[in-house]
Amino acid sequence: MVRDGVESPDAYPFSIPAVRAIEELALDKRVTFLVGENGSGKSTLVEAIAVAAGFNAEGGSRNMRFATRSSESELHQHLRLVRGARRPKDGYFLRAESFFNVATEVDNVGTGSHGATSLHEQSHGEAFLALIEHRFGDGGLYILDEPEAALSPQRQLALLAHLHRLIKSGSQFLIATHSPILMAYPEALIYELSASGIEPVAYEDSAHYLITRDFLNHRERYLKRLLE
Ligand SMILES: Nc1ncnc2c1ncn2[C@@H]1O[C@H](COP(=O)(O)OP(=O)(O)OP(=O)(O)O)[C@@H](O)[C@H]1O
Ligand SMILES: [Mg+2]
Repeated sequence: MVRDGVESPDAYPFSIPAVRAIEELALDKRVTFLVGENGSGKSTLVEAIAVAAGFNAEGGSRNMRFATRSSESELHQHLRLVRGARRPKDGYFLRAESFFNVATEVDNVGTGSHGATSLHEQSHGEAFLALIEHRFGDGGLYILDEPEAALSPQRQLALLAHLHRLIKSGSQFLIATHSPILMAYPEALIYELSASGIEPVAYEDSAHYLITRDFLNHRERYLKRLLE
């Protein structure tokens, strides 16, 4: 992170504690997850990393250049990405909010590598998995913001299997998520963003895992307390 030229260090995005805390962020595992409360800065950070890596801020592949509104923060201008020896061949930035736009762009450029059916003629989750199945390939860099938004628990399991296949063929993933299922991918690096900054966390120590497990184990007690 390079802070030279930051005009307002107290304004968004530098007002976010997790963003302010970043000096260096190792992304050296095949899969890195960003987790944390709503508003903790995950989308801001994945978007800035995606833009710094050459993607359209609204999502899509590196070739997609549509813009319906310019909303990205200035953070990407202050990130220096340090790459390993291999340059990613391919990639995609998928954010839940703009999947519709990506699907439209895919239709406009022709569905070719995205499967035979228009992404708009499939359900959100079907289209999302179709894109991953048909369009994601070997040696790519894939940046996903809440991919679980589209997916049933069963399909999240399917996504884990797709992740594994792609990782074995040299792809890398950066994923912002709230899903205790996706975060379980073995040997992933998990960063938890919070009011005190950004820190690596073990799966079993993450708030998402602990709360989900506790809720499923003690559902009656939770509901009694919440609904009384
Ligand atoms: N364009 C913007 N201008 C000013 N503040 C913003 C802007 N976008 C987001 N914020 C603020 O920055 C903080 C982090 O937002 P961000 O979208 O990165 O959170 P998040 O961790 O992705 O949350 P969620 O889990 O709800 O998706 C929030 O407090 C939000 O209100
Ligand atoms: Mg978000």
